Amino acid sequence: MDNQDVLFRSFTLGDMTLRNRIIMAPLTRSRAAQTGDIPTDINAEYYRQRAGAGLIIAEATQVSPQGKGYAFTPGIHSENQVAGWHKVTTAVHKAGGRIHLQLWHVGRISHPELQPNGETPVAPSAIKPQGAQTFISADSGMVDVPEPRALATDEIPSIIDQFRQGAENAKRAGFDGVEIHAANGYLLDQFLRSESNQRTDAYGGSLESRLRLPLEVVNAVVDVWGTERTGIRVSPTGSFNDMRDTDPVETYGTFAKHLNEIGIAYIEVVEDSFQGNLEKGRPQAVIDAIRSNFKRAYIGNGHYTDSEARQRVEEGLCDLASFGRPFIANPDLPARFRHNAPLNEWDSSTFYGGDERGYTDYPALNAEQ
Ligand SMILES: Cc1cc2nc3c(=O)[nH]c(=O)nc-3n(C[C@H](O)[C@H](O)[C@H](O)COP(=O)(O)O)c2cc1C
Repeated sequence: MDNQDVLFRSFTLGDMTLRNRIIMAPLTRSRAAQTGDIPTDINAEYYRQRAGAGLIIAEATQVSPQGKGYAFTPGIHSENQVAGWHKVTTAVHKAGGRIHLQLWHVGRISHPELQPNGETPVAPSAIKPQGAQTFISADSGMVDVPEPRALATDEIPSIIDQFRQGAENAKRAGFDGVEIHAANGYLLDQFLRSESNQRTDAYGGSLESRLRLPLEVVNAVVDVWGTERTGIRVSPTGSFNDMRDTDPVETYGTFAKHLNEIGIAYIEVVEDSFQGNLEKGRPQAVIDAIRSNFKRAYIGNGHYTDSEARQRVEEGLCDLASFGRPFIANPDLPARFRHNAPLNEWDSSTFYGGDERGYTDYPALNAEQ
């Protein structure tokens, strides 16, 4: 092993030793079985091919039928889904990899056609995200999301239970841990940020109240997994799904302080996104606020190259970096970084939905040679 290359220095994440610092970011690929949202053999093959990552964070996975927002995304609330995911974790472990599951509730980014009994999607407040769309079926393509219904205060415990159940199911499915999805404009992000949360009860209004549900979810998941195997993802300046916050430094600095008190293993921060960022480049003031309040691991994400990842790890700006699109197109991304080999380019037309094309057929280096 080349100890000079900081990306290949092992790292202790929670209580796990990772063999490199190259993390596979969570990536929705919309290729679960159409009936029952169940992971299948091609999903197991896709993740197995990527087992060289220090850690795979598997795609956003709905914790309940209500948490679903797109066609063909997998769930973790039925026994068949647990069995499907078990095939995935078994394949990754056999290949020597580690894999966490990203626990997801979409909140207002959904559509009655995807909701149980055609219900209206739920949110902290009845605010329609402008321009936000979802994919409800192969025939309909992208459609606007409707105005959501504000959750009643007495419905909040059910949201926490959905995450707790998802965490328990992820354990039975053989994952190594879980990442709570609090980014990209989905339910927990909708509670965190000031524009989407206009509640007047204990779950909105002041900053401490906006943080309440996300923190209660974190505590519920920690009850199941412990702090060492629990992480969270945030996107403080992401604008995807019509998101904004009046003071991201204060919101995320304070959130990080509470997460540090709970002691979870890591925060993954979407610092920059092709899906929309309110700042130009990485929001260093927010990153500093998170980093100074949260003492455990920090995973940087968004537009990273291997050289920028090396540089930022060396400078102490992050501990690890996660790669999204580069991992779609390069199943053996760490090997390519190690050997400074050229990267395959991704084909965005096959990101979401379809079959093995653009999914499991990107070549590895040794297959090319
Ligand atoms: C096809 C695709 C699917 C994605 N799905 C998810 C997801 O399920 N959960 C999530 O938090 N982010 C998701 N993202 C965002 C990525 O994790 C990542 O933040 C983004 O691609 C930026 O990293 P990159 O520049 O290395 O690609 C997705 C991105 C892409 C391209």
